[in-house]
Amino acid sequence: MSTKDFTHTQVGIVGAGPAGLVLGHLLHRQGIESVILENRSREYVEGRVRAGVLEQGTVDLLIEMGVGERLQREGLVHHGVELRFGGVGHRIPFDELTGGRGITIYGQQEVVKDLIAARIESGAPLLFEVDDVRPTGIDTDSPALGFRHGGEERELRCDVVAGCDGFHGVCRDAVPDGALTLREHVYPFGWLGILAEVEPSSDELIYCHHDRGFALHSMRSPQITRLYLQCEPDEDIERWPDERIWAELHARFECKGWSLKEGPIVEKGVTPMRSFVAEPMQHGRLFLAGDAVHIVPATGAKGLNLAVADVRVLADALTRWFAAGDESGLRGYSATCLPRVWKAQHFAWWMTSMFHRMPDDRDGFMARLQRAQLDYLCSSRAAATSLAENYVGLKHVVLATEDQIV
Ligand code: FAD
Ligand code: PHB
Repeated sequence: MSTKDFTHTQVGIVGAGPAGLVLGHLLHRQGIESVILENRSREYVEGRVRAGVLEQGTVDLLIEMGVGERLQREGLVHHGVELRFGGVGHRIPFDELTGGRGITIYGQQEVVKDLIAARIESGAPLLFEVDDVRPTGIDTDSPALGFRHGGEERELRCDVVAGCDGFHGVCRDAVPDGALTLREHVYPFGWLGILAEVEPSSDELIYCHHDRGFALHSMRSPQITRLYLQCEPDEDIERWPDERIWAELHARFECKGWSLKEGPIVEKGVTPMRSFVAEPMQHGRLFLAGDAVHIVPATGAKGLNLAVADVRVLADALTRWFAAGDESGLRGYSATCLPRVWKAQHFAWWMTSMFHRMPDDRDGFMARLQRAQLDYLCSSRAAATSLAENYVGLKHVVLATEDQIV
């Protein structure tokens, strides 16, 4: 469909990341129209290397939505994770501690590719390389999205706008000053991440605490390893030639009887660590979801999963509204999502605080506390169960009812 073919849609979705694409697909399955506007190219969004850990609830939803075929074929199901400190590894068995639950390793860009393919097959509109998206009239019953596409100025009138445009998007800023409360914590470190063409050195993820800083061993496939190193928040990637990266990884992961396999580095990037929540997640006819409204530090592997959990609630609420004029779901959207958001926020902050070297820890007090916490986790079934339950993901919740809305 060309941009000329429409001037109105039920749900105008800004952003073709996991949040926007899952929302569009869920709505399509309910017979609700949407248009997705994305400012980057298809190649760019399909190639953007980010998350890798999918919670059980995310996997179940993608399968139920009919976009899980390749995920089931190629995703790597993990039943545990290793915590490494003092040069010794300790396994946390998720399945044993959570009644058989686990996680699946499948790259975010693969999820995005599968969702884009399904969207295109459905014939529902998804526009790439859209410029200057402007939400207007969100306080009225007829919000709109102004934008430019193919050099032409357009306006799309909507019943509802879904802001799924990530942390640096425009939708959150469309809310009038003072209507949202913003809470933020910026960590004094970042992650340097690489993809290497080499088989993973371990069957499971390794979260490693070391005096030199945190390190994480992950993977994308039996041939591709994903590795991260704690670095400065504004680290200059030019200061990290491949040899330095491998030397640092070897130093941090050092463990008797285990060695890290090296291979060609095919991707490198630095990510800052931030916690952020904007409340409420709605203003008028604008509903915010995913990174547009909350950011978690990557240590808990929760960002993509939270984005999916948000839009699941939003799709249910919109379905009730469009089908029966029942507004209660939309009114309860924020109240339904925020408890999960804050629990994930706490888990990600806790994992981050436990594993990273604190830059101002001159006498090693914080490092001793971290080691005590890690020792406890690996010797107490109760403590390990808490980590496992949060890591595999809390159950998806149903919509809040009117009396729970504050
Ligand atoms: P995004 O993926 O950011 O999508 C937003 C989309 O909106 C983008 O396509 C963007 O181009 C588009 N957009 C932005 N502005 C505009 C505009 N003005 N107009 C139109 N379109 C716009 N999460 C996990 O759950 N597990 C993990 O293991 C994990 N690891 C991570 C590792 C790293 C290194 C990083 C950086 C993140 C990680 N995350 C992880 C977080 C996860 O990637 C994000 O939480 C997730 O991408 C959020 O999805 P989203 O759709 O809300 O936002
Ligand atoms: C990843 O594989 O990219 C990954 C894994 C675990 C995390 C963060 C990122 O906590």
